[in-house]
Amino acid sequence: MKTKIVGIPLNFGANRCGLEFGVDNFIDRYPKYRDKIEVLGVEREVEDFSRKNAKYLNTVAKTCEKLAVSINKIVKDGNFPITLGGDHAIAIGSIAGVSKEKEIGILWMDAHGDMNTPEISESGHIHGMPLAASIGYGHSKLVDCLYKGTKVKKENVILFGTRDIDEKEQELIDELGIKNYTWDMIAEMGFEKALGEVKEFFRDRNLHISFDLDGIDPAEVTAVGTPVPGGLSREMGKILVSEMIDTASVTSIDIVEYNPIYEKGMETSEYVDELLQLIEKKITL
Ligand code: ARG
Ligand code: MN
Ligand code: MN
Ligand code: MN
Repeated sequence: MKTKIVGIPLNFGANRCGLEFGVDNFIDRYPKYRDKIEVLGVEREVEDFSRKNAKYLNTVAKTCEKLAVSINKIVKDGNFPITLGGDHAIAIGSIAGVSKEKEIGILWMDAHGDMNTPEISESGHIHGMPLAASIGYGHSKLVDCLYKGTKVKKENVILFGTRDIDEKEQELIDELGIKNYTWDMIAEMGFEKALGEVKEFFRDRNLHISFDLDGIDPAEVTAVGTPVPGGLSREMGKILVSEMIDTASVTSIDIVEYNPIYEKGMETSEYVDELLQLIEKKITL
């Protein structure tokens, strides 16, 4: 199996400048990826700017659709897709692309829940909605990406590292019974134990990992647009990915929210490179 990296410089889901430069900036810093990353363009669509509860809905939906087609082809060809963002809304597309071929679970490593819907979102930013959309909640233009309806069963989802969840979003998480390892819980029980439980849950099952760089402690990874104090160390993030690949049948990974505008040096792009190297090594073994 080969890894195929798709770069998708979407920022409309976050409504924040900088994310659109993430993929290009990363390739500039690491030219060895120039021929390895297929960069997809963002699909601009006409928007209704009176819509405040799901900003740039049409552009995000169209771009996710395009990504989904591309990811689906990679999976059908028997390869392993890695989606490099861009804001986290793109996970709607990557998950749709994989789930069309295989029943998968999702490990959502993030400071945030990304479980908002247009009805409850405080910001209207779609990057706060992709997990909800993937399990069937939210605007139909997002939920029905690539094919109609729910992509992943809510029972097969684990949130990991969360520490900033909006009030109504928390209510939805509770109502749906989404498993949520908050950063506080992980810190209290110990990372090893939390990881052990997640490994047992997904053991030998198909798994998509959605890795939001803001899940890592912003003291160690600065180049994210929505930093929240606390979170996994860089090393924990790598152990998580590595051990999940060893334990579950990992089908696909997103690495998202790299925003070079906030980078203090090279440490975030370096970390992305380390993650990509690690995945490449384990998958092509
Ligand atoms: N909960 C907030 C919102 O709905 C923040 C979401 C941040 N999401 C992310 N993928 N960084 O806007
Ligand atoms: Mn996220
Ligand atoms: Mn986040
Ligand atoms: Mn936001």
